[in-house]
Order: sequence, then C-alpha cells, then structure tokens
Amino acid sequence: MLRNEIEVIAKKGFDVKSVRNDFPLLKRMVNGVPLVYLDNAATSQKPQTVIDSLIQYYTFDNANIHRGLYFLSELATDQYETARLKVKEFINAMSTSEIIFVRGTTEAINLVASSMCRAKHFKDGDEVIISNMEHHSNIVPWQLMGDRKKIGLKVIPITDEGELDLDAYEKMINPKTKLVSVVHISNTLGTVNPVKKIIEIAHSHGVPVLLDGAQAIPHIKIDVQDLDADFYAFSGHKVFGPTGIGVLYGKTEFLDMMPPYQGGGDMIRTVTFEKTTFDDLPRKFEAGTPNIAGGIGLGAAIDYVNQFDRKDLVIHENSLLEYATSELLKIEGLKIIGTAKEKASVISFVIDGIHPYDIGTIIDTDGIAIRTGHHCTQPIMKRYNITAAARASFTFYNTLEEVDLLVRGILKVKKMFA
Ligand SMILES: Cc1ncc(COP(=O)(O)O)c(C=O)c1O
Repeated sequence: MLRNEIEVIAKKGFDVKSVRNDFPLLKRMVNGVPLVYLDNAATSQKPQTVIDSLIQYYTFDNANIHRGLYFLSELATDQYETARLKVKEFINAMSTSEIIFVRGTTEAINLVASSMCRAKHFKDGDEVIISNMEHHSNIVPWQLMGDRKKIGLKVIPITDEGELDLDAYEKMINPKTKLVSVVHISNTLGTVNPVKKIIEIAHSHGVPVLLDGAQAIPHIKIDVQDLDADFYAFSGHKVFGPTGIGVLYGKTEFLDMMPPYQGGGDMIRTVTFEKTTFDDLPRKFEAGTPNIAGGIGLGAAIDYVNQFDRKDLVIHENSLLEYATSELLKIEGLKIIGTAKEKASVISFVIDGIHPYDIGTIIDTDGIAIRTGHHCTQPIMKRYNITAAARASFTFYNTLEEVDLLVRGILKVKKMFA
C-alpha cells in the first residue's frame, strides 16, 4: 500500500495531531530534537487528564481508604471504588468483586500462582501449560512454586512466523493439566493469540485459563465474559495510566476458593491470636494500604480511552504497523522477528552485522526511543537463535512521520557500520 493511501485510512475518524496534544511528554525535546517515542510496549505516555487526577488527589483528596468515617476518607474511598467500577465496565466483568487491584501484571500472575498452589486446586505432579512466547512474568512465578508444589510446566511451541501451534497445545492437555496460562498479545512478536479458541479447548477439558493481557489491554477492547477467561491480568501503565497499579480479574468461583495472597490490614473480618477470618472479595486479596492514587489514575486513563471509538484506534495502529513493516523491510539485511497473520503494532527486528544495542544507542542521539535487548522473553530469543532484538512499538498517538524518522535513523546506523 502507498503511503498516501495509508494516510487517508489513518486519518479517517481520528485526528492524531489533536490527540498528541493530550500527552505533554510527547512535546519534549531529547538531544535537541523532538522526541520520537516508540517504546509503548514497555510503558505508555500519560494524557494530561491522568496526570491531573494524581495532582488533584494528592493536593486535595488524600486520605486512607476503607477505614475513616470522616469526609476525606470517604471521598478517597469513593474515588478508589469508582475506579474499580470503571475497570469492571472496561473489561465487562460481571461484578466489581472480581476486580482485584494489584501492582501490575507481574503481581497478578504471582497472586494466582501463589494462591492456587496453596489451594487444593494443585497437587504435586500437576501441570500448567504456558507457551514459548511468554514474558518472564508468566514463567518465573510458576517455577518459584516448585518449593510448594511440584508443578510441571508444559510449553506450547511456536511456528517460525510466531504463531502458537494449536495442535501441539491440544495434545498437551491431559488429566494432570490444572491451568493454561498464556499471553494474549506477545510483547516481542506482536502476535495476537487466538485466545477464544485456546479457552474453548481448555474448557472442553475442564481446565481454567489465565490470560496475560499486559499488551492486549491498550490495543483491543477486552470482554472477559465474551472470552470466557477465568483470569485476566493487566498493568495500568501500559494503558496510559500510572505505574504501580494493575488488575487481576478472576471469576468468583475461583477467587472464592483461593486463599489470600498476603495478610495484613484491610483484608480481614476478625483477628485473634488463634485465628483470623477474611473479608469478602475483592478485599480478601488486597492487604495493606493500596496504591490509592494509582487506582484513581487508572480510572482517569480508562475515561480517556473510552472517549474514542476503539475501532478508530485499531485502524490507526494497523496502518502504522503496515507502513512501518513495509518500510523497514526495504532496509537491506533487516529481518523482522514475528510475522504472524494477526499482529499488534509491535515490530522486533535484527540487522545483519549490527548489534541491537548499537541501533538503539545511535538512534537515541536523534531522539528516537526504541527498546533493545531480550524484552523479558529470553525463551523467544533462544527460539529464533538470537540474543537480542531491537523493538519499535507503536500506539495511537504515533504518526507515519515518526515511522519515517525511525527508518531514516536506522539507515544512518547502517551507513556508520558500512
Ligand atoms: C506480555 C507482558 N506480560 C507481562 C508484563 C509485565 O508487566 P508489568 O511489568 O507491568 O508487571 C509485560 C511487560 O512488559 C508484558 O509485556
């Protein structure tokens, strides 16, 4: 597709120039030139409304929640619980009691691993199915459980294009399989996994499914009931909210049977030295003073995203993906890692004879921020026989001009190494 054709599609129903004005950081200069921020898979920039919500909270509304009977405490509690309601509606959960606030995707998966291993759900010798494209946060928590229960990890292989081998997956399920835990969109390959099908297969064997939605949440509309996901984990900072806040969605039937993850204040009903009884969901899983400002900020981020028709965002991001892919592939010696049919706007690449760190460092001098390294997915690096890759990840505030700048930057790197 020609660039001007893409431009027409990209602009339909969506004005990227005006959207960029909502994000103050995008106006920043780096090394004397305007920033080109292409590391959105690592974290997204924040709209002014999210920043304002944090300032408002700390300037005027700060108090601890769930425990004071005075005005400010009730106000803070109300704002925090309203944020939970916004999350519930954002992902179409059945009830706010299924929304557990955590620090992020990593903590959400650790919570499920830790709590489920203490519940009767798992016994020694049981198995969890993950995939070859998991972020370390969906590998290591299961390995850490080894000192509690001897859980075997089964790994769904991936094809050269970066798609899950679903036949192999189906064959892996056996009576020992107690959970399938897979990534919705890969942060390295960009692959959008067929999670509905994965869930259908698991459920036909009576096995629950956890989805790591860290990368999916900013890109696609999530409906946990339509997916029939048993658990869904995501981080606020990837969806234009603050760091240090995230969500574990879980179906009540599972959350009810799972013991608390941590103990402390705010999660109990009665405590004696002999015995403690626990609060109802979701408080049972939220020990201690939470990230109140973070929760409120996440609510503001959801309000921000909700003002758009998500289809417009997807169209814009797809046009960036398509244009960037075709322009990058014109560069001699550049290979894209991850060429699945269903892809989000994440492009990992390597260039013959040039280390990704050199690419990242040199283009940074032109204000272009991309990620380099293993992207917390060392098993993917091993699968493709590489040690590192460069990664440009786009979101709806990125532009075709920024793609041009990226390509120009890479050509400059190539010239230096020629
Ligand atoms: C697919 C995926 N899963 C999990 C995580 C971990 O997220 P967090 O560090 O916010 O907990 C990330 C972060 O990059 C990710 O991309």
